[in-house]
Amino acid sequence: MNIDIIAGARPNFIKIAPIIDAIKSKKADGYEINYRLIHTGQHYDKNMSLQFFEELNIPKPDLNFEVGSGSQASQTAAIMISYENLLKTEKPDLCLVVGDVNSTMACAIVAKKAQVKVIHVEAGIRSGDLAMPEEINRIVTDSLTDYYFTTTKTASENLIKEGINESNIYFVGNVMIDTLNKFMSSFKPPKVWADLNLQEKSYVLLTMHRPSNVDAENSLKAIIDTVCENSNGLPVVFPVHPRTLKTLNQLNINYDRLYTIPPLGYLEFNYLTKYAKVVITDSGGITEETTVMGVPCITVRNSTERPETVTIGTNELVGTKSERIKLYLNKLFNEGWKEGKIPEKWDGKSAKRIVDILISNMS
Ligand code: UD1
Ligand code: UDP
Repeated sequence: MNIDIIAGARPNFIKIAPIIDAIKSKKADGYEINYRLIHTGQHYDKNMSLQFFEELNIPKPDLNFEVGSGSQASQTAAIMISYENLLKTEKPDLCLVVGDVNSTMACAIVAKKAQVKVIHVEAGIRSGDLAMPEEINRIVTDSLTDYYFTTTKTASENLIKEGINESNIYFVGNVMIDTLNKFMSSFKPPKVWADLNLQEKSYVLLTMHRPSNVDAENSLKAIIDTVCENSNGLPVVFPVHPRTLKTLNQLNINYDRLYTIPPLGYLEFNYLTKYAKVVITDSGGITEETTVMGVPCITVRNSTERPETVTIGTNELVGTKSERIKLYLNKLFNEGWKEGKIPEKWDGKSAKRIVDILISNMS
């Protein structure tokens, strides 16, 4: 069995790492399973790409399309053209895509049109918000997928509601947590830890990158102002995503306690997450990591495709309004936070489940 594994953006790298490990281990056991790793080049800065390959021991990609940045359509189209050209010369049996970025949808469409079966890892999650490019990517990808691997029962149910045949849906848990569990003992403090003499629970960790929060100067400024003014005197550490940096550079923000730094590597970022008093974010993956590590998390969005991080985990979905962010920060500092539990099958074994299922379906 030959599988193309597609990865393009930061969260993709974290998701494919354990899948490649699981494939390699099956191959070592004598199974006929091969993969070709394709990097689309959607993310390309060292600290958004190569750094993750090095830290998570991901093999060098067999190909890199180097599509770079662009509008939604131009980036998606560039990935589609590159992948279509590749499939003209060599077609795999299966194309495995993860998550919900443009690379995910682009390659799913091309594979399906070339009669290559599509595997979607992290299928079925839905925010219900079609203003998010990711929601469109999820819906289109899942409309073409052959094998659906889900992180939660809710995601499986979403697919069933959309008319997907139940026998093609496999609830396997969360590959992001496979990576988290595997590397937790290797987390290491970033430079900012010593520079600011940070201590456990003595700082706020902030990340923002959703277009709706960071593309407009007033939205980003309001979030930063609110966080800095309501963080109970604690330092706010803000690793800045490149999309966000473009807007931040236009703003005149000056808080003594705000420390903006470049995006961090996985091991350093998750060290900061693990010991933060609270993480304030609009990321999807980070809400899953805080849930597993039991760290309070405030999500500055109006919807989430990961409801279990709120109903089971330590996340609160607070919306984007300043008063709401302030309310939840006050709650954290004055009343404390919910404990949270780890969702079912977020146990570090999801990639192995996926590869076992693929092998048993193919043989
Ligand atoms: C993308 C995904 C989003 C995911 C996020 C993870 C889509 C539609 N969006 O958003 O779902 O949560 O990745 O981080 O696929 N840039 C750089 N260097 C890089 C990459 C990007 O400078 O290595 C800058 C460019 O100016 C680019 C902008 O960031 O235009 C946005 O990058 P893009 O990949 O289009 O979307 P993200 O916001 O990163
Ligand atoms: N992450 C990282 N360094 C950072 C910010 C995030 O390693 O400076 C990791 C984080 O631990 C998680 C993933 O990147 O595993 C989340 O990616 P992102 O927030 O960019 O995307 P999303 O999950 O929202 O699609």
